[in-house]
Amino acid sequence: MVTRWAFFITLSLLNLLVVTTVVMWSLWLPTVGWSGDGSDSATRGNLWALCLPKQSRQHNGEFYKTWEEAGDQTYHPFQTRVRVVLWSDALWRRTGLAKNRNRTWYKLCPRRPACEFTREHMWVSYADAVVFHLPTLPTNYTPELMPRKRKVHQKWVLFSMESPVVTRGKNMASYGGVFNWTMTYRGDSDVLTSYGSRSLLYNSLPALPANPGKPPRNFAREKDRLAVWFVSNCYAHLTRHHYAKELRKHIKVDVFGRCGKSVCAEDRGYRSTCFKKTIKRYKFYLAFESYKCREYITEKFWRNALENEVVPVVLGAPKEDYIRFAPPGSFIHVDDFKSPKDLALYLKRLAKNDKEYNRYFRWRSMQFRKNTTLDKGRWCNLCDKLLQTCPQERKVYADIYRWWKGKEGEEYCERTLLPEDIPKPHFDLSIHFS
Ligand SMILES: *[C@@H]1O[C@H](CO)[C@@H](O)[C@H](O)[C@H]1NC(C)=O
Ligand SMILES: *[C@@H]1O[C@H](CO)[C@@H](O)[C@H](O)[C@H]1NC(C)=O
Ligand SMILES: *[C@@H]1O[C@H](CO)[C@@H](O)[C@H](O)[C@H]1NC(C)=O
Repeated sequence: MVTRWAFFITLSLLNLLVVTTVVMWSLWLPTVGWSGDGSDSATRGNLWALCLPKQSRQHNGEFYKTWEEAGDQTYHPFQTRVRVVLWSDALWRRTGLAKNRNRTWYKLCPRRPACEFTREHMWVSYADAVVFHLPTLPTNYTPELMPRKRKVHQKWVLFSMESPVVTRGKNMASYGGVFNWTMTYRGDSDVLTSYGSRSLLYNSLPALPANPGKPPRNFAREKDRLAVWFVSNCYAHLTRHHYAKELRKHIKVDVFGRCGKSVCAEDRGYRSTCFKKTIKRYKFYLAFESYKCREYITEKFWRNALENEVVPVVLGAPKEDYIRFAPPGSFIHVDDFKSPKDLALYLKRLAKNDKEYNRYFRWRSMQFRKNTTLDKGRWCNLCDKLLQTCPQERKVYADIYRWWKGKEGEEYCERTLLPEDIPKPHFDLSIHFS
């Protein structure tokens, strides 16, 4: 009888051991088990943090430094989740989630269920990252408005979709030494939050048969109008307004938006059917950015023009930036023309020649080269970076002011005459195109 009980108890203990091991293993596996090449093979929704040898990560850069925190005990291999607090309400609105949702944690990147987001500040002490929205941060760094305590491996992430011109009112120097990561449209950010990219674009458009070098169909046939410009920042002294005014002397450009005529009044969202249908009727879309800044290529280019299969005429970032980011041969850059008049002549000629016009769509039938630095969308990019970063890694932007603005004499944004530069009393600073 005694031996039978002993046998039974031993068996139970053994069983418990096996179950515990399996549970621990399954918790552990997702964190360390699968290599992170960024591909979807990581079906468990996790990536593998890659820890390189110490020396390679010590770095004293111009704007930031990186180092390794030896013996950091805060991370353990059973950690299976990363949590992110979106500190600024403006960021929460960007997630597209309704205000009155009742859950605390959201998976903004469904393919990485291990990565969860909240906007509730009370969770900040648990967070692996806290994201701050630059355009709505206080002018000066104000510690009382930031989280009180900060876990040693917690990353403070500076987020901006706006250009340095828009955030010029911020005393960026006062934020030196505060942020660990940057998350902007610029390619040298730690996390990319672009307005668009080749990978996102190819994903959103219907696939066309691969047929390198040939336009997949006649895009010109669907179009009965020439050029369109939607413009809503009517501040008169933007470079693009002078350019557009000149251009319109030589070619018909329909102007919609706050500074032009109204169209799609009842449903003004840029994803609305009315908006898309309107744009698709045109051969050219003026994707003129408000500010001329390096790499600043916005939804005007990606969503409004390319997604609607209209050829963008671009003014803004230098041509080399468009070449680096845009599909090859997909746009017309104003810098290629001596004057707005020359551009107008070219557009008119192109509009009459379907064969030439369709050359701007050859990229649609090219195979997109696989690239592990693909843009997966902003929240997924953040999740992947968090899951892939070695937990002992440290980084801080000591000179965030110069990182953001650019080195002296090599600023990222071209100077613009801004309202504050114009002596008062100033008259109407807005422009209207009829
Ligand atoms: C919470 O929201 C979900 C959907 O957003 C809804 O189905 C559910 O009933 C809500 N629960 C409460 C307690 O309000
Ligand atoms: C992948 O993309 C990055 C960023 O766009 C680029 O720097 C890199 O050269 C690309 N790699 C390949 C193999 O195309
Ligand atoms: C983030 O920056 C702070 C402030 O300089 C620094 O103390 C901390 O170690 C950094 N954390 C990480 C994870 O890089």
